[in-house]
Amino acid sequence: MSHWIELEAQRYMPVAKRVPIVLVRGEGSRVWDDEGKSYLDLVGGWAVNTLGHCHPVIADALSEQAQSLIHTSNQFYTVPQLELADLLVTNSPFDRVFFSNSGVEANEGAVKLVRKYGQHHRDGAYTVITTDHSFHGRSLAMLTATGKPAYKQDYGPLPAGFVNVPFNDLDAIKRATDKETCAIMLEPVQGEGGVNVADPAYLRGVRQWCDEQNLVLVFDEVQTGVGRLGKLWGFQISGVEPDVMTLAKGLGGGVPIGAILSKEKFSVFTYGDHGSTFGGNPLACAVSLAVMRHVLKEDLPGHVTKVGGYFMDRLESLRAERPYITDVRGHGLLIGVEFDGDIAGEVVAESLKEGLLLNSPAANVVRFMPPLVLREEEVDEAIDIVSRVLDRVKAKTPA
Ligand SMILES: Cc1ncc(COP(=O)(O)O)c(C=O)c1O
Repeated sequence: MSHWIELEAQRYMPVAKRVPIVLVRGEGSRVWDDEGKSYLDLVGGWAVNTLGHCHPVIADALSEQAQSLIHTSNQFYTVPQLELADLLVTNSPFDRVFFSNSGVEANEGAVKLVRKYGQHHRDGAYTVITTDHSFHGRSLAMLTATGKPAYKQDYGPLPAGFVNVPFNDLDAIKRATDKETCAIMLEPVQGEGGVNVADPAYLRGVRQWCDEQNLVLVFDEVQTGVGRLGKLWGFQISGVEPDVMTLAKGLGGGVPIGAILSKEKFSVFTYGDHGSTFGGNPLACAVSLAVMRHVLKEDLPGHVTKVGGYFMDRLESLRAERPYITDVRGHGLLIGVEFDGDIAGEVVAESLKEGLLLNSPAANVVRFMPPLVLREEEVDEAIDIVSRVLDRVKAKTPA
């Protein structure tokens, strides 16, 4: 066994279920391990590597910014932060931005924001309604918001003020709304929950309910934002605009950055209400700015629509031949394939042997969230491997 894998077992807190390879290099949608073996990477750093691995746009922005100013704190104005804020506002329906370092921090900040709104504009309301199978991060408050009970076990007492209701169920939201409710927080497509797409009619109903009840609608677009679904922002798929949106993952293309975007009416933070030492620092913002400019200039969302559509079509053909594939779902390059049994772990393990990196958010679901620069030839390569692997795995599994 590799020295590094042994070292991890001895030294690292054993929280991550790792695949037994040590990655040392990446380029485009491909990575290499420490023995020189190459893999097609359809995990994409958990939907982070927007431009693929080590894109020159990212490497150049990193090295240029590293030679001028890396960090200063938010006590001062810095140019990349303000240029990035301006780019996000001019390319979205939102008016103001706050930068954090991760998705969970962006969501924490968004919940503070909506609680303050509730405090001042809905008679002190503070509860946030979220959905079953949602994922909002691992801080105490966000794992409480998250709709996966297993993540919460052992960490009580959990913070008050979160209610989980079934996904795609407007009546459940209506029933859960009371005088304490200040906001509803949803993912347009649940990623960690198994690639579950929100029904546009449901989202329209939620939007209307929020307007009628003076609730803030928050979309957690940490996974769906920045072109992942084939539109710049995931909410554009349904056309339902939230009041507040959170981003992270693909926003930095690999450097840690998150963001809260808010419409003016809901942007209730004032001096001293929120802050971060690293959030919005020049290094992360310069890289994110370069990523965002590239995404826009190259129309990566358009590319994602095309290549994601091709990927879906090829997966649908696999499904037509293999009845044990019970569903193919998603948008753009966030795709889930569901099986009639718990074979996803084995499919991931067998694909690894053939040089393909996959992810499984549930025992019966495989998820594809590759770099947005994925090419059709790479889709073909993945489909060849997946079909071979499926035949092998299914041959071993009794019906
Ligand atoms: C929708 C969503 N929200 C929040 C998070 C948490 O982001 P982070 O791991 O950057 O804290 C994730 C991570 O997978 C996510 O998919």
